[in-house]
Amino acid sequence: MAIDFDTEWDHRGLSSLKWEFIVRDGEPEPWEGTDPELGDDRVIPMWVADMDFRVAEPIIAALRRRVESGIYGYAGKTSGYLCAVADWIQRRYGWAVDQDWIVPTVGIVPALHMIVRQFTEPGAGVLIQRPVYHPFSYAIVNNNRQVVCNSLRLNGDHYEMDFDDLEIKAKNSNVKLAILCNPHNPVGRVWSEEELSRFADICHRHEILVVADEIHGDLILPGHQLTSYGLLDPERTENSIVCTAASKTFNLAGLKTSNLIIRNEDLRAKMKGEIRATGLWGLNPLGLVATQAAYEAGEPWLEEVIQYIAKNHAYLASYIGEHIPQLRVIPAEATYLAWVDCRNLGLDENALSHLMMENARLYLDDGSIFGPEGSGFFRINLACPRSLLEQALGRIRQAVEHALS
Ligand SMILES: Cc1ncc(COP(=O)(O)O)c(C=O)c1O
Repeated sequence: MAIDFDTEWDHRGLSSLKWEFIVRDGEPEPWEGTDPELGDDRVIPMWVADMDFRVAEPIIAALRRRVESGIYGYAGKTSGYLCAVADWIQRRYGWAVDQDWIVPTVGIVPALHMIVRQFTEPGAGVLIQRPVYHPFSYAIVNNNRQVVCNSLRLNGDHYEMDFDDLEIKAKNSNVKLAILCNPHNPVGRVWSEEELSRFADICHRHEILVVADEIHGDLILPGHQLTSYGLLDPERTENSIVCTAASKTFNLAGLKTSNLIIRNEDLRAKMKGEIRATGLWGLNPLGLVATQAAYEAGEPWLEEVIQYIAKNHAYLASYIGEHIPQLRVIPAEATYLAWVDCRNLGLDENALSHLMMENARLYLDDGSIFGPEGSGFFRINLACPRSLLEQALGRIRQAVEHALS
């Protein structure tokens, strides 16, 4: 039976960040802007990376059993959990991971903050490739380290790494750590083996620890394939940590469960020490159950959701191409996030943001939150029923036509 991704679920009363909050001055505030009672004035939220879909049935069944136990004390990782994670990585990425290498954490963002603290000194440089998922910068700046940016280059419709600049930054900028995003949020690239190898080579020569954030690594669109950083030449990637989770793949982000894969024993011991030092060593029992069930029985759901998302990407591209030619969609290779170039509208950041929120009544992510390189773009979340996407695009078309008239 086909899985239902078309229903528009009512998110009221679920404390959903995406549907019931708005971020103002960096703080989420409760908000009623998406209330269906508002009719045409209702804002459609297409920002934070949550799906609007109900999760796979085997996950709901496993959670139901766990909830009905009535026992919610502290939890630890079981061998069943570790086995499910290792099997998934082997099956999906072809990477044979020893269960000892798996270090669960309460989310990738907290883990990135801990990695920055553990493996660099205050004032050190940490390299990122903007425009990129903005909490990478927070992990650096909140810990008094310096952002060193190896900006991506837009060549036609295709983002590329700038290896000449990477070589210079790696050599000269007191960089001890680099955070790689693969697949890349927001630009949608799945880095090729060749690109990753060049990146790994430069970082290895300059003794830079690489953290490869592969949280979107299961959401690869048809025709593309992930090369996990863990599959590269072991000699050049010994000094690396790979971050993975079922949270984006299976829409479980609120359960705060993720995994670091750390092959090097010394790095692993240091990371575990940092987890103890921050006191963030507990794991969410429901997160463990959901992750294990997802990896053991969620694959059919995942295959279908990828097909649905791929169709949403195709719909977005064809609609914009046909009806809003002033905008340009950057072709996505992965993720349910699309990156749209609006620079031809000639609007500054505030005017573009105002156009989308006030005129189109859409809550999108302004490109500039991903760094100045994202200015003039927006990121739109396509993990939604097609009907919502259709409404959203109609609204953008009207708002743009009105702005240009
Ligand atoms: C690249 C990337 N890393 C990490 C996260 C969030 O990770 P977590 O919820 O596990 O902290 C996101 C969420 O969108 C993301 O896009």
